[in-house]
Amino acid sequence: MAGIIERYRNRLPVTGDTPVISLEEGSTPLIPAPALSALLGEDRQVFLKFEGLNPTGSFKDRGMTLAVSKAMEEGCRGVICASTGNTSASAAAYAARAGVPCWVVLPAGKVAAGKLAQAIVHGAIVIPIDDNFDIALQRVIEIADAEGITLVNSINPYRIEGQKTVAFEIIDELGGAPATHFLPVGNAGNITATWRGYSEERETGRIQVPPRMIGCQAAGSAPIVTGAVVENPETIATAIRIGNPASWQGALGAIEESHGAILAVEDEQILAAYQHLSTNEGVFCEPASAACVAGLLKQHEAGIEIAPAGATIVCTLTGHGLKDPERAVDGTVLPEPIGSDLDALRRAMGLS
Ligand code: F0G
Repeated sequence: MAGIIERYRNRLPVTGDTPVISLEEGSTPLIPAPALSALLGEDRQVFLKFEGLNPTGSFKDRGMTLAVSKAMEEGCRGVICASTGNTSASAAAYAARAGVPCWVVLPAGKVAAGKLAQAIVHGAIVIPIDDNFDIALQRVIEIADAEGITLVNSINPYRIEGQKTVAFEIIDELGGAPATHFLPVGNAGNITATWRGYSEERETGRIQVPPRMIGCQAAGSAPIVTGAVVENPETIATAIRIGNPASWQGALGAIEESHGAILAVEDEQILAAYQHLSTNEGVFCEPASAACVAGLLKQHEAGIEIAPAGATIVCTLTGHGLKDPERAVDGTVLPEPIGSDLDALRRAMGLS
């Protein structure tokens, strides 16, 4: 399967001269979630758009293929980003593919192990700072500008353009738009991009009514919900530990125009949704991704109608669970090894 640039070439700002730097991103599965569907009842169908199955394990690859391809077209000398982890993993991989250097500036101690491993293995220059993502982003904007290095955070317009393709794929697959679309919100690029994708499809006439967009922020990092910058954002969902989102206005636009909402979910609710997805649906995403399912469950528990009976609901699972193995095992201690005789195995299995 071709990557998103080849698949949606006529919908993206590329020409025949654009070198396509691709790892065959996109075309991720839209997985039915029978347990969530049963919970909502009345024939509502919940689907999980599992963006964790992109080449570097997150939705960032959709935007990164375009951002790095355009950077190469423009003759860039290297790329730089601030990141809570996934952007840096993706930037490092696409820069390696393109053969240009990549610098990543990260909040020290707040990036999940798998993401850090990716940046390292792809040869990025990793710079941890004693500050949060919001400060890191301000700094890389200044450096990129002064040094003529291409910034590949989502304020790079090509990132948003690439990421809008997720909406095209969902419409391709469902044959129409869902009624409601839940997604986690951090720097707010993805809600902006997904909404742009749906809006463009309304203009082309492929859909008449776009979905209501429901953004979900972690309660300790919920500036759009509270309407105020959070100086010291905190949450176990480190990917969305952001207090001053760059695409704040884009998120507000998506929510208003789609008659959607922005919700705050507690860390406990995020972890409960993470557990639900892994144990009941068999889908392993990272905690930040589960924030959107936490939002769905929160609304359902509050008696809010998420979608009409018989309607379709999509949740974007933005990143793979293997990104954050420490969270997954969290304190679980394996039993002491036993002998390998069958009786011992039967006892350990609880069969005798
Ligand atoms: N989910 C995951 C797994 C993420 O990594 C991010 C953002 C989001 C959701 C939120 O998306 O920022 O477009 O609202 N991660 C960025 C990063 C900030 O640096 O990897 P957003």
